[in-house]
Amino acid sequence: MTSTVELHRAAAPPPPPAQSKGFGPNGRFPALPRPNLDWTPEVEAATAHLYERVSRVIPPVEWPFHAPYIKAINDLKVVRNAVILAHNYQTPEIYHCVSDYVGDSLQLAKMAASSDADIIVQGGVYFMAETSKILNPDKVVLIPDAEAGCSLAASITGADVRALRAKYPGVPVVAYVNTSAEVKAEVDICCTSSNAVKVVESLGVDRVIMVPDRYLAQNVAAQTRVKIIAWEGACEVHERFTAEEIESYRSDHPGLKVIAHPECPREVVEVSDFAGSTAAMIDYVRTKKPARVLLVTECSMADNIAAETTGTEFVRPCNFCPHMKRITLPRILDSLLYIGKEILVDPAIAERARLSVQRMIDLG
Ligand code: 13P
Ligand code: SF4
Repeated sequence: MTSTVELHRAAAPPPPPAQSKGFGPNGRFPALPRPNLDWTPEVEAATAHLYERVSRVIPPVEWPFHAPYIKAINDLKVVRNAVILAHNYQTPEIYHCVSDYVGDSLQLAKMAASSDADIIVQGGVYFMAETSKILNPDKVVLIPDAEAGCSLAASITGADVRALRAKYPGVPVVAYVNTSAEVKAEVDICCTSSNAVKVVESLGVDRVIMVPDRYLAQNVAAQTRVKIIAWEGACEVHERFTAEEIESYRSDHPGLKVIAHPECPREVVEVSDFAGSTAAMIDYVRTKKPARVLLVTECSMADNIAAETTGTEFVRPCNFCPHMKRITLPRILDSLLYIGKEILVDPAIAERARLSVQRMIDLG
């Protein structure tokens, strides 16, 4: 008996039909030809200045794979009047070579609020793109991979917040920005890791509910007299670090400075020299210039700082965020070419969520 096997190969999205009216809302964005992605002398010359920025962390042999995408994306951004916002955990070829703005969650939210581009492409995870859309309801916000989630955002729903309110009547609710729009719509105010203590204390009460990160809640509780009622969520990247592991890095690397993200367990923050948001961690390295540093956070951030820093040795426990790593140059290119995946938030939810985010931004 003979059998027929059909072989299917993963392919780039199909080119638009010749008569396509365009992409995005009402076909507003014209269909564009797929650019040539060969490594040519022209591409090499056009991207040479960008390679200089990342040459410490991207070997020359890898550059011909990235450079054609980088050139194509940078050309397309001009055609589409688009900006790329990249979180500090994006890989160096995205962070240093195609992004217009980089930062932590708070900085990206503020940049989204002040952008005058037609299209925002979020180099980050879904909740970040949703936050950009909440702050820019009239703009097209794209996420290059809609599966780029977050274990914290997935740990709680709007119904969970309503149940907490019923259990603790009158106690205000603070939501970490790592939450869905639906959750933001149910809370009093948002916070990020860089302003959480300030947000909690701004409410002027002796008890707050803080969702969804139990470790951030513990780390905030250690810095304030306000009693924190926490939720059970955790970041799947940061919860893996242990105090024992940090101590063993310290004994292997004399003089090591340890700086941790507040999504780490309390015991890890306690044995660290400093804890702060991703932007605060970068600032620590830039200003204090430690000879040896361990960034207790997602691994790409050390690459991004190492690319622009001399005189500091980065000791790396490599924990990648699988969600952040879904954002790649080929997916960013497709996103700009085919205007996908567009973030849509129910206007009624977006309006309430915007109040929570804006209250945080207004705190300064
Ligand atoms: P930052 O706000 O510190 O950038 O943190 C966001 C995040 O997802 C960390 O895991
Ligand atoms: Fe979410 Fe953790 Fe990934 Fe940040 S690092 S996006 S908190 S899973």
